[in-house]
Amino acid sequence: MRPTQAAFPATRLRRTRQSPAIRDMVAENTLTSADLIWPVFVRDGEGVEEPVPSMPGVMRRSIDRVVEAAREAADLGIPAICLFPFTSAENRTADCAEAWSPDNLSNRATRAIKAAVPDIAVMADVALDPYSDTGHDGFVVNGEIINDATVEALVKQALSQAEAGVDIIGPSDMMDGRIGAIRAALEANGHPNVILMSYAAKYASAFYGPFRDAVGAGAALKGDKKTYQMNPANTDEALRLVERDLREGADMVMVKPGLPYLDICRRVKDNFGAPTFAYQVSGEYAMIMAAVQNGWIDEERAMLESLMCFKRAGCDGVLSYFAPKVARLLS
Ligand code: PBG
Repeated sequence: MRPTQAAFPATRLRRTRQSPAIRDMVAENTLTSADLIWPVFVRDGEGVEEPVPSMPGVMRRSIDRVVEAAREAADLGIPAICLFPFTSAENRTADCAEAWSPDNLSNRATRAIKAAVPDIAVMADVALDPYSDTGHDGFVVNGEIINDATVEALVKQALSQAEAGVDIIGPSDMMDGRIGAIRAALEANGHPNVILMSYAAKYASAFYGPFRDAVGAGAALKGDKKTYQMNPANTDEALRLVERDLREGADMVMVKPGLPYLDICRRVKDNFGAPTFAYQVSGEYAMIMAAVQNGWIDEERAMLESLMCFKRAGCDGVLSYFAPKVARLLS
């Protein structure tokens, strides 16, 4: 509903924009470090911080360095860190068994963070692509990404993450039925408090390219993910997916990518009122950083503005590679 307002000059909308103090008074949204989830890449080794070339400023870290990063994030008021493993070549197999190994990188990092920085929430990703020799999020049989057998594997992966102590499980695979299957398995196996943040509306996007470099899944990937990730042309379908995942036991839902999909964020928030998150993905980060490195845009202003836009679109929080930089700036 539009508020009634007098005609000019009784109404001069510039009055409420005249100074920082007045602008702050009438700000409709705020961005704080509590709105951020920080995705980090984990690799093996010790004392390693290896730059990801297509994501300037982003590193693959060995577990000891991930723990340091988690401590820094907690000190900055970032509530959650999200782990993505860079799996070695010998652990990428057709059966993807490393995905549910209690000692895979993600599970070891989870235990290390929980022991050293108990206050930060740990989120882990459920999908087979870091462990598969095909780069796909599910099993591939005769060229088809098969749904139901993949869901069985995802349940094992999710249970291994719960055993390792994650607070939040983020299924990013887009298989049908996985939220219900994971929720039932968590209940049956003594993990009733583990949160499910469903990548509910995840689009088949060109903006994931740098991420696939970072986790080493890009080179292996044959074809595309269009039979399971969404068509960027669709919006009603996103609402059907979100509704389904909430009914199956998701506590929070995510829209991904972020900025090009703010219309989806707004529709999801307005329709369901559930905790709604967006993922400002690797390609969005890379675009901003490429322009920054060319001196074409200002880094601080671009990152703050882009993140505030998610809040304005109704998001409760954002997964962003800018998280520690922004939190430092805001603190
Ligand atoms: C894979 C996964 C992807 C991302 C998070 N989990 C890539 C994909 O679906 O191919 C992308 C994140 C980013 O681009 O920052 N399950």
